[in-house]
Amino acid sequence: MPNIVAFGASSSKNSINRKLAHFAAQQVPNAHINLLDLNDYEMPLYSTDREKEGIPEKAHAFKAALQDSDGIIISFAEHNGAYTTAFKNIFDWISILEKPIWCGKPMFLLSTSTGARGGKTVLELAHLRLSRDMPNIPCFALPSYKETFDEEKGIVEATHLAAFNETLEVFVGQL
Ligand SMILES: Cc1cc2nc3c(=O)[nH]c(=O)nc-3n(C[C@H](O)[C@H](O)[C@H](O)COP(=O)(O)O)c2cc1C
Repeated sequence: MPNIVAFGASSSKNSINRKLAHFAAQQVPNAHINLLDLNDYEMPLYSTDREKEGIPEKAHAFKAALQDSDGIIISFAEHNGAYTTAFKNIFDWISILEKPIWCGKPMFLLSTSTGARGGKTVLELAHLRLSRDMPNIPCFALPSYKETFDEEKGIVEATHLAAFNETLEVFVGQL
């Protein structure tokens, strides 16, 4: 039974990316899902000065969740073409802990937004950066969330569902 850590890279209470990440984790056969909420990992804004004051326990806790997993699913919210501050802050804090940052686990990177690109800009940014530690990371951007995703059924548009399933298969094959 693979242990899958999944989260939306957003601190929105009703994050659509958290919903997409959860949906993706539910499609992994026989998975045990650890759905994280970034609000549980709110820390001081990273700086080298703050680091000298000590690394927050929440950074270690987040890293421990990654370490305990067999695979990681992240769905990125896009803020001004980049990561949300909530995600970037956690990324910065865990990046000063032991390497590799994402524990060398298989990853599945997603994004969605209500716009036509579905957060593709931040997804490409994340893919470029995270591929340094892990080759062949599958990626999928879901555009026009309001029309393409149903909270009960998941992805409801056939072309996007087929593309999602192709990338999911790659991830499952890497577990
Ligand atoms: C400050 C801010 C910046 C945003 N910038 C973008 C953007 O660059 N591209 C985009 O597609 N959506 C953008 N959005 C819309 C978000 O994609 C939308 O709020 C989405 O719901 C965020 O995902 P979440 O619900 O998982 O937090 C932005 C929203 C905010 C509040």
